[in-house]
Amino acid sequence: MVSIAIDGPSGAGKSSLSNALAERLGYIHLDTGAIYRTVALYVIESGVDPKDAEGVIALIPKMDVVIEYVDGAQRMILCGEDVTGRIRTSEISAGASAVSAIPEVRTFLLELQRDFARRNNVIMDGRDIGTVILPDATVKFFMTASDDARAERRLAELVEKGEKISIDEVKSAMATRDKNDKSRKVAPAIPADDAIFLDNSGPFEETLEKALKIIRERTK
Ligand code: DC
Repeated sequence: MVSIAIDGPSGAGKSSLSNALAERLGYIHLDTGAIYRTVALYVIESGVDPKDAEGVIALIPKMDVVIEYVDGAQRMILCGEDVTGRIRTSEISAGASAVSAIPEVRTFLLELQRDFARRNNVIMDGRDIGTVILPDATVKFFMTASDDARAERRLAELVEKGEKISIDEVKSAMATRDKNDKSRKVAPAIPADDAIFLDNSGPFEETLEKALKIIRERTK
């Protein structure tokens, strides 16, 4: 099986690139951030603070997280309910960052992700795909973009969801989340030693073509 790991901070354009690559190559895209977001939703709806590690760990046995694909699009199913449309809020972003720092949560989700790559040709995007989940991935990318470009992307996503938020608030929330994700003890969001850096501050088509060229060279 071919596996393409795409790591990097939020708003770098990982999802757009992953979707475009999946379409062009006929692979399946797994957005692993959506899994952490689904866990955060469960925790918040259970009335537990996502930063309360003990409280979160106690909930793990009750979490029933399933990934489905409908017309090629990833759906997150939590305890039998499709929650895909409810995991893209600022509250869930912060909650996902908090629960993702808990080692037991990461262990709980590890096999789910690895099993996916064993059964499918995948484009997997996240923070620790190249370092922890798929250390033998066929190609590893670490995607970046300027802070302004990232914040603009996040703002557009949130406004589309109906959130009233300013660009400065987005930048500040992004900086906090980046710091948490990079500095946590387990699986920090850092590039793998053998990752290829992709800067996505410029035109998306250029980033896509560059990634496609590298993947084609490695898989021929
Ligand atoms: O990619 P995203 O913004 O949807 O991710 C939400 C949070 O989940 C992010 O702040 C860090 C965490 N995450 C992680 O720790 N490991 C991953 N593979 C994916 C996401």
